[in-house]
Amino acid sequence: MEEIGFLGIGIMGKAMAVNLLRHGFKVTVWNRTLSRCDELVQHGASVGETPAAVIKKCKYTIAMLSDPAAALSVVFDKHGALEHVCAGKGYIDMSTVDADTSSQISQAITSKGGSFLEAPVSGSKKPAEDGQLVILAAGDKDLYDQVVPAFDVLGKKSFFLGKIGNGAKMKLVVNMIMGSMMNAFSEGIVLADKSGLDPHTLLDVLDLGAIANPMFKMKGPAMIKNSYPPAFPLKHQQKDMRLALALGDENAVPMPVAAAANETFKKARSLGLGDLDFSAVFETLSK
Ligand SMILES: NC(=O)c1ccc[n+]([C@@H]2O[C@H](COP(=O)([O-])OP(=O)(O)OC[C@H]3O[C@@H](n4cnc5c(N)ncnc54)[C@H](OP(=O)(O)O)[C@@H]3O)[C@@H](O)[C@H]2O)c1
Repeated sequence: MEEIGFLGIGIMGKAMAVNLLRHGFKVTVWNRTLSRCDELVQHGASVGETPAAVIKKCKYTIAMLSDPAAALSVVFDKHGALEHVCAGKGYIDMSTVDADTSSQISQAITSKGGSFLEAPVSGSKKPAEDGQLVILAAGDKDLYDQVVPAFDVLGKKSFFLGKIGNGAKMKLVVNMIMGSMMNAFSEGIVLADKSGLDPHTLLDVLDLGAIANPMFKMKGPAMIKNSYPPAFPLKHQQKDMRLALALGDENAVPMPVAAAANETFKKARSLGLGDLDFSAVFETLSK
């Protein structure tokens, strides 16, 4: 495959770009805080000075940015991606954003002759490192077919979901469920503890039953130790709850559980926990 550009070397972007390099892809990276690219250079990446410079150099460019504001700014701002988009360029935004943001980016890229795919991912830092993400793509099917070799490296499975917005919506539904589950899990650990039960035994019991899941198994032991090394930053989980609730508004879907979960994530952010893992929402319930 042609050289791939990569915009956004955060927790996920770094793991994904390293994975592509490890599998023999040539990769040119850019990050707002440029110094974060240094580690990628050690893995064999080149660095572009601006998003526009990366687009100019690469046929395909992937973006992995924090939120809608970041995704829009990297495309539309001065020296942004749009400056060098033209026919033959493919732009793949893997950030978690809402369908409207994705549509705005899609329209801008395609109006300059480029092709666009939204491709948010399910899975966190570890699956990103291991190439085990689940990719939720939508948009230009030809571009999807062209970048399947990269998706095969990044993920264990990719879905093509049709028109722009469907990938974004699927991702928000998944993360809305996850955020609500994390709240219920946190309440359960606190309830077990405060009512005189050993929370570790609760984890063992949960793991043997019908609601066993990798998230409880992976996060539970650290939460009991009040340890939250960021794999999925809490501020991004709250952003996803907010965007999922807006999708609920648009479709008149009542979401009382998700709305309550959003409040606890907001509370956690107000306590300064936004950069910790989203499991730190436990702190708002246990204190
Ligand atoms: N972590 C996960 O488990 C996970 C899983 C699935 C999906 N996601 C989604 O993937 C995306 C990235 O997540 P992450 O965990 O990698 O987040 P992160 O570690 O916070 O990285 C965010 C990236 O966005 C960049 N950025 C933020 N604001 C910007 C702006 N205004 N202009 C340009 N760049 C900007 C950051 O650059 P700087 O380095 O300069 O700050 C950084 O490269 C988010 O949409 C998140 O919801 C995350």
